[in-house]
Amino acid sequence: MSIDTSLFKKAMGQFPTGVTITTAYDKAGQVAGMTASAFCSVSIDPLLVLMCPAKNAECYSALTEASYFSIHLLGGEQGALAWQFAKSGVDKSDGIEWIQGAMGAPKIPGCLAYLECRHHALYDGGDHGILVGEVVSLELDDAQVPLAYCQSQLGPMPAL
Ligand SMILES: Cc1cc2nc3c(=O)[nH]c(=O)nc-3n(C[C@H](O)[C@H](O)[C@H](O)COP(=O)(O)O)c2cc1C
Repeated sequence: MSIDTSLFKKAMGQFPTGVTITTAYDKAGQVAGMTASAFCSVSIDPLLVLMCPAKNAECYSALTEASYFSIHLLGGEQGALAWQFAKSGVDKSDGIEWIQGAMGAPKIPGCLAYLECRHHALYDGGDHGILVGEVVSLELDDAQVPLAYCQSQLGPMPAL
């Protein structure tokens, strides 16, 4: 049975998620990164998370080849930042005062949560990779509400 991909995308768009930005330094020392909703926790012992970058993303090599990378969970007021990291061919660093995580991965200050990850595994996921990281550093600002994504819209998560 063949399934229409636009129907698949529409159906997946009904599934509410949080929003992340994953960043890493590329081989030339430049920051690369992308907005991703395909993120989840995987394991407690060891602490593992995964995110799924498209293989045709400009930042794919940087994210999947870096020894350490950063995953930022975005807060409800960071919708503009999410769109900034979802555009190819622009300077995604515009307006960002980068700092470094404990292991040197590029860190955006002021997010809801910050996970610095050591590369653990990379699996094949069709036209995406499945990048698994071991969390080596974690910060949480739980005064922020999460940024939510559903039906192609971004906004602060409503009270449940
Ligand atoms: C809310 C949101 C969630 C996204 N989730 C993903 C994702 O999980 N994986 C992915 O590969 N692209 C995702 N994208 C698209 C990428 O952020 C976008 O294609 C990005 O520009 C790719 O990086 P590049 O500029 O290095 O090519 C998402 C975009 C938005 C706005």
